[in-house]
Amino acid sequence: MTVQTALVQGAQLLEDEGAIPVPRLTAEVLLAHALRRERVYLFGHPEHELSEIEWLHYGRYLHERLQGKPTQYITGRQEFYGREFRVTPDVLIPRPETEHVVETALRLAGGASRILDVGCGSGNLAVTLQLETGAAAWASDISPAALRVAARNALSLDAPVSFVACDLMSAFASRSMDLIVSNPPYVPLKEAAGLQREVRDWEPRQALFAGPTGFEIYERLVSDSARVLKPGGWLIMELGFSSREGVAAMLSARWREVEWVPDLAGIPRVVAAALG
Ligand SMILES: C[S@@+](CC[C@H](N)C(=O)[O-])C[C@H]1O[C@@H](n2cnc3c(N)ncnc32)[C@H](O)[C@@H]1O
Repeated sequence: MTVQTALVQGAQLLEDEGAIPVPRLTAEVLLAHALRRERVYLFGHPEHELSEIEWLHYGRYLHERLQGKPTQYITGRQEFYGREFRVTPDVLIPRPETEHVVETALRLAGGASRILDVGCGSGNLAVTLQLETGAAAWASDISPAALRVAARNALSLDAPVSFVACDLMSAFASRSMDLIVSNPPYVPLKEAAGLQREVRDWEPRQALFAGPTGFEIYERLVSDSARVLKPGGWLIMELGFSSREGVAAMLSARWREVEWVPDLAGIPRVVAAALG
């Protein structure tokens, strides 16, 4: 079987399933992964005959995707802010919206010399900010398995980040950071049934759900950041779809220069606030 035929048949299988977005692109990514090549190779070599092992790999990847496994957990990688991060089902797949956290941090606090990423998952925020600013960087997570993935990403991307297993920022000293960033779990438990199956069944529960209201981690992040930030330091967090009002109510008079940053669809996606 040639690359061209494998793509046509794979895309058709995925399309027939009915719930897989962009079936042709998915087939291309999975076939390139089976061939251990970049996607562009497929376009230059439509006549490449698949070896038996390549065919077996491709078949297995298609089967996994049809079962709902996200493409990124099959290929083990996801791009974030122009760099490739390794991902496993122990970590959330970094989302493009989260790049707004990086952009906001660089704009408002690009000169920070000590940065902490709380709930680091794959390490995408901590590693990116360390590499973009050269600051001293720490990252925490409650999941030791996630921290192992993050540490591996930091190593392969050559970013000196210190990883700490702890509950939020409980291991960090008072007034020790210039910038705290976080993309916390914010999905209310009652919304679990309505999530896409790729998210609900595959991404870590600890990365998604904060508790019954979805505001439980925000509450603790805001109050503990006031302890760990130096005066004038910045707290920058990603927001859930309808989190703005609830988070605004947590930002007491101690916080100033509060800024709500919309995503491309105009939804407030990031909040930034400086500690007074
Ligand atoms: C939404 S994910 C974000 C991961 C990554 N920062 C990103 O943007 O893709 C939230 C992360 O917070 C971690 N987490 C959840 N509760 C925590 C807690 N109490 N203390 C520390 N980390 C926590 C989860 O394990 C998960 O890795």
